[in-house]
Amino acid sequence: MVEKLILGIETSCDETSAAVVADGRKIRSNIISSQIDTHRRFGGVVPEIASRKHVENIAAVIQRALEEANVTWHDLDAIAVTHGPGLVGALLVGVSAAKAMAYSLKIPLLGIHHLMGHIYAVFLEHDAVQLPLLCLVVSGGHTSLILLEGYGQMRLLGQTRDDAAGEAFDKVARALGLPYPGGPEIEKLAKEGDSAAVEFPRAWLEEGSLDFSFSGLKSAVLNYLHRARQKGEEINKHDVAASFQQAVIDVLVGKTFAAVDKLGARQLAVAGGVAANGTLKTALVREAERRGVRVLTPSPVYCTDNGAMIACAGYYALQEGRVASLDLNAVPNLPLHFLD
Ligand code: KG4
Ligand code: ZN
Repeated sequence: MVEKLILGIETSCDETSAAVVADGRKIRSNIISSQIDTHRRFGGVVPEIASRKHVENIAAVIQRALEEANVTWHDLDAIAVTHGPGLVGALLVGVSAAKAMAYSLKIPLLGIHHLMGHIYAVFLEHDAVQLPLLCLVVSGGHTSLILLEGYGQMRLLGQTRDDAAGEAFDKVARALGLPYPGGPEIEKLAKEGDSAAVEFPRAWLEEGSLDFSFSGLKSAVLNYLHRARQKGEEINKHDVAASFQQAVIDVLVGKTFAAVDKLGARQLAVAGGVAANGTLKTALVREAERRGVRVLTPSPVYCTDNGAMIACAGYYALQEGRVASLDLNAVPNLPLHFLD
């Protein structure tokens, strides 16, 4: 059978990425040009700079993705691109490049929701993924429990009512004087800290709720640091990082397995930037093993933003005939549509 080669383009935030994936699984290339060093000195992503960097890098990143995959433009069967949600100026760079390529090569254009990309990253490296699939999506912008029934067919089981988990990691890291992005920095510090040293709150919300809330926890950490500094007390950053991280993990694991038990799920997918956290993964796997549940997580490089996950989602979008027209636009707050 002839392989379907899809170029995936991702420029929603601070990574310019392009990847060539065959049949939604065989990753031929995955080029990621990170802008982290540029944004770091500002303590977070500066949208205007992100757009400009994407413009500078996009052509070379796409070219490298093709070269590394050892294919030419004419071998491609379709172009998949993130068209939202994200920073509008950043998204526009990828969308414009994808539209120009699809138009000139006369091949299908696929507009991918960023979160669908994160979820489909799970399909890149795992065989026999069964639907419906329970997914915990934890990134800088989202924290949701979703039941995936088919491409674009999802049920929302719970989501954050305020901050996303990754956002909480980034804000707490900033308060601890750590560089952006905060998640990996907190994980590193926490390795040498005592997770029971400081008692931070866990927001379980109403009985049976699968929603999340991390803003109370974030405020509790900021208040703790503020009070300690005012009193001139020494702050053990390792302990604060470990205690905060544990509070996030306890809630993520608790709610996720409440959903597993409620649905009788046998497989659990965990995706998005925070899924790169090894301590979270260990905690999820421990609970899963007790129940005989299989945990599917992408390798860390496919957890954070990348083109391969977009190409993979594009493969399934193409199978469903969900082809975009050339008036595809960047939509900064693109909603996900859920079944009732
Ligand atoms: O999925 P992603 O790359 O971009 C969004 O779609 O938001 O996620 C980025 C988020 C950031 O908040 C970052 O701090 C967090 O994922 N993150 C982590 C880790 N690696 C990235 N959080 C905790 N532990 C990590 N190892
Ligand atoms: Zn992302």
